[in-house]
Amino acid sequence: MTRQNIVVGLDVGTTKVCAVVADLRDSGPDILGLGMSPSTGLRKGIVINIDETVGSIEKAVREAGSSAGVRIKSVSVGISGGHIKGFDSSGAVGIRGKEVSPSDVRRAIDSAKTAYIPLDRELLHAVPAEFTLDGQDGITNPVGMSGVRLEAGVHIVTAAVSPMQNLLKCCGKAGLEVAEVVFSPLASSYAVLTQEEKSAGTVLIDMGGGSTGIAFFKGGSLRYASVVAVGGNHFTNDLAVGLHVTMNEAEKLKREAGAAYESIVPSSEEIQITQVGGQRRTLPRKYLAEILQPRCEEMLDLLKEEIRKCGGYRNAICGVVITGGASLLTGFGEMAEVLLGLPVRTGAPREIKGFAVAFEGPAYSAGVGLATYGQEPESGKAAQTDAMHGVFSRVTDLVRDIFRHADHFHLNNRKEGGVLCLKSRR
Ligand SMILES: Nc1ncnc2c1ncn2[C@@H]1O[C@H](COP(=O)(O)OP(=O)(O)OP(=O)(O)O)[C@@H](O)[C@H]1O
Ligand SMILES: [Mg+2]
Repeated sequence: MTRQNIVVGLDVGTTKVCAVVADLRDSGPDILGLGMSPSTGLRKGIVINIDETVGSIEKAVREAGSSAGVRIKSVSVGISGGHIKGFDSSGAVGIRGKEVSPSDVRRAIDSAKTAYIPLDRELLHAVPAEFTLDGQDGITNPVGMSGVRLEAGVHIVTAAVSPMQNLLKCCGKAGLEVAEVVFSPLASSYAVLTQEEKSAGTVLIDMGGGSTGIAFFKGGSLRYASVVAVGGNHFTNDLAVGLHVTMNEAEKLKREAGAAYESIVPSSEEIQITQVGGQRRTLPRKYLAEILQPRCEEMLDLLKEEIRKCGGYRNAICGVVITGGASLLTGFGEMAEVLLGLPVRTGAPREIKGFAVAFEGPAYSAGVGLATYGQEPESGKAAQTDAMHGVFSRVTDLVRDIFRHADHFHLNNRKEGGVLCLKSRR
């Protein structure tokens, strides 16, 4: 019998909590079980009610555990919210004219990780981007090169301490050990993006209910991380206010008849709505799009600014991939392509063994990514592994390990021995 390497991803979102149980085999991940529960204890991606969040986590984890036939003790949890910030940092070490060794690379990365982080923030990830050797920049693998001064550029992602502690507290109260805390859009990228997209340059936009995460990838690694506190619930709220309907009715209308812009809705189409007082009305379906269009434009303006900040207009060769439940709004992808001025595709978890059809939409990208984080489905195939690493293909095993698990250089490094101490995958 083959040994199982079970990892559980826990996506604690503003609208739903989703738990995914995966067996990470050499041949690729196998999804063994899934659980989902509506979420009521978060706002804009941040926990605002511990008990409600614990209840949602417990339900999702119970469901996932029983569908997989395993007892869940440890999870990789996703984090999002407007408090997440990313910045570039660099660190240098002397080589004294010798050949650069893997340990020099590690020292340079460690030095870049000592960037000043205020006391109210916690280091989540320090992802190596590229190296500079004696002024020669753009080096992806300096091992074996000769030089005097090696500089490592890393992208650092931090989270505010309090929302992070509250998320961890919820997991603890639900009886779970936290093995890893991962920036949610970074986790989604493992489910949604191809390695070619990560190498050539892609902006991943995870549009959730209460927030939208932005992650830019280039050269195979994360180069920019940010979150804007606007998501699909704002669309729903606009409909509720504009049509005088409950949030539930607005949500139903948005999903069934909503559209991102007016001109895609035929003028002849009508919808029935039930207003707060119980009155039923018949309206042109265009009214929904008239309400939603300005909010979509506003959202795309914010995203345009983010793409500008991360250099996406120069470097995102593969354009933009949108995921998350809010990306499902009819016409949003087409509107985004026009207003952002880049190619846009909607991304959902790629085909994974054992994957249930009910969980294949973009809303499950983060959950699936958290469970499969660190292992690409194609990693068992040599040819694709090379393509996957692209420019890294000559990297020695040790350095490859640094890059592949670059995302794992996170808070645990600063808190050795603490509650968040990184546990190896079982
Ligand atoms: N078919 C659809 N059309 C339009 N919007 C949709 C559709 N399906 C889901 N949504 C919206 O997607 C949002 C939820 O997305 P998702 O499940 O990715 O969020 P979340 O992970 O719970 O939240 P967050 O990431 O912000 O914490 C909700 O606003 C919901 O209304
Ligand atoms: Mg989400």
